Amino acid sequence: MPAISFQSVSKTFPSARGKLTALDHVTFDIEEGEFFGLLGPNGAGKTTLISILAGLARATSGRVSVRGHDVQAEYANARRQLGVVPQELVFDPFFTVREALRIQSGYFGVRNNEAWITELLESLGLADKSHANMRQLSGGMKRRVLVAQALVHKPPVIVLDEPTAGVDVELRQTLWQFIARLNRQGHTVLLTTHYLEEAEALCNRIAMLKTGRVVALERTSDLLKAASSNVLRFKMDSQLPAEFAHKARVTGRIVQLPAHDAHEIEDYLAAIRRAGLRVEDVEIRKADLEDVFLDVMSAKYQQRVAV
Ligand SMILES: Nc1ncnc2c1ncn2[C@@H]1O[C@H](COP(=O)(O)OP(=O)(O)OP(=O)(O)O)[C@@H](O)[C@H]1O
Ligand SMILES: [Mg+2]
Repeated sequence: MPAISFQSVSKTFPSARGKLTALDHVTFDIEEGEFFGLLGPNGAGKTTLISILAGLARATSGRVSVRGHDVQAEYANARRQLGVVPQELVFDPFFTVREALRIQSGYFGVRNNEAWITELLESLGLADKSHANMRQLSGGMKRRVLVAQALVHKPPVIVLDEPTAGVDVELRQTLWQFIARLNRQGHTVLLTTHYLEEAEALCNRIAMLKTGRVVALERTSDLLKAASSNVLRFKMDSQLPAEFAHKARVTGRIVQLPAHDAHEIEDYLAAIRRAGLRVEDVEIRKADLEDVFLDVMSAKYQQRVAV
């Protein structure tokens, strides 16, 4: 039985121009024990899919189940299997951190949870904040509390909707160590993030959503293999030759060009020489998940869905 099953899930919202299709027949399963990445640009439908999974929104059509429990028909059973870290910072300003975690434990009917709450606070770097009021916390600390809240009932399936947005480098590392440990202990993890190097490092399988549709669904290693294998990277101050400007990823002075083989790299360099341009710090690196992502989201991409 899969940990999570999405079967032909569609969601439309009314909009000024009729209706907006946020999800369009999304179908895939996440198996027990997977560390699964759900990626996509802003507005792709990731949070909408997670809201339906968590029972916070209803699908227009289709079915979602968590470890065999339908999220509509068996809401309470499905919800108990899940720990959800929401994208939006929502919290009750009147409680301390420890109180908020006790209340959340009570909501799930978990008694005598102090030892686990203490472990969560320590693992998430919140030990010295346990008696602080929620409204006294910084943004990143509030997000840590949301992570702790999602985990108070030791859910078998952990869903993280951009848990590291606005979180400092050190906590990102602590958080991932902690979540990876829970995953090794058998917890299934579903993660959305815009930090693609995190997804590349952590997820065994990845689905990419584009305007509500699954446009890629593969093992992370296969996605990386299928990409243009190399990237030519250099710095320059002038404009790129028009013949390949459209292929380039430009960040300030840094230009990165996808290359499928050595010939393509030679062609780029020859064109730069012909144009009389000066480049510095030339290097060739392996394509990473960010390159794959940009390729998948580009209009010319052929859908690749394997399981
Ligand atoms: N309650 C709502 N009413 C109307 N439209 C909505 C609602 N919630 C989401 N949408 C629309 O559905 C689409 C998908 O939004 P969603 O929040 O799922 O995207 P996302 O992939 O989570 O994006 P991000 O990376 O920015 O978090 C967007 O076009 C959004 O405007
Ligand atoms: Mg979102």
